[in-house]
Amino acid sequence: MCAATLLGATATLAACGNGESEAPVNTPAPIPQPMGEGQAVLSAEQLPVLSRAQVAAKDPATGHDIGVLLFRKDEQTVLAYSNICTHQGCAVGVKSPSKDDFYCACHGSHFEPDGGTATAGPAMGALVRYGCAIEGPDIVVYIPVEDA
Ligand code: FES
Repeated sequence: MCAATLLGATATLAACGNGESEAPVNTPAPIPQPMGEGQAVLSAEQLPVLSRAQVAAKDPATGHDIGVLLFRKDEQTVLAYSNICTHQGCAVGVKSPSKDDFYCACHGSHFEPDGGTATAGPAMGALVRYGCAIEGPDIVVYIPVEDA
């Protein structure tokens, strides 16, 4: 297994030293610890338990907006993911035919909100995770510079 795959880039095709590529990993990466400068992206009261949202955050390297998917697992836990589809890079969103997951309309991939794994469609890898915390009234997302 390539080091890049172990570092949380579970949804990418990691080039190995032997010139071969590994298949994307469809298991949830560990939840990243909030590190660095967080960004308040939504009021916690705007995301009820078991609901999903798509928000924008700033890429700390470029300052450009990037898409972030949120899932409120319980009162204290919000999970955050990159909205970049692990199939061919389209934007994954919260509007889904199944109404309770994340969905990429480009080719019909579905992703589990609690872990980000691909559950249907051509995508074979889990969504990239971001650190996230409820801090006071806000949901705060931590985008690592190297993953943004
Ligand atoms: S790019 Fe998302 S399903 Fe193909």
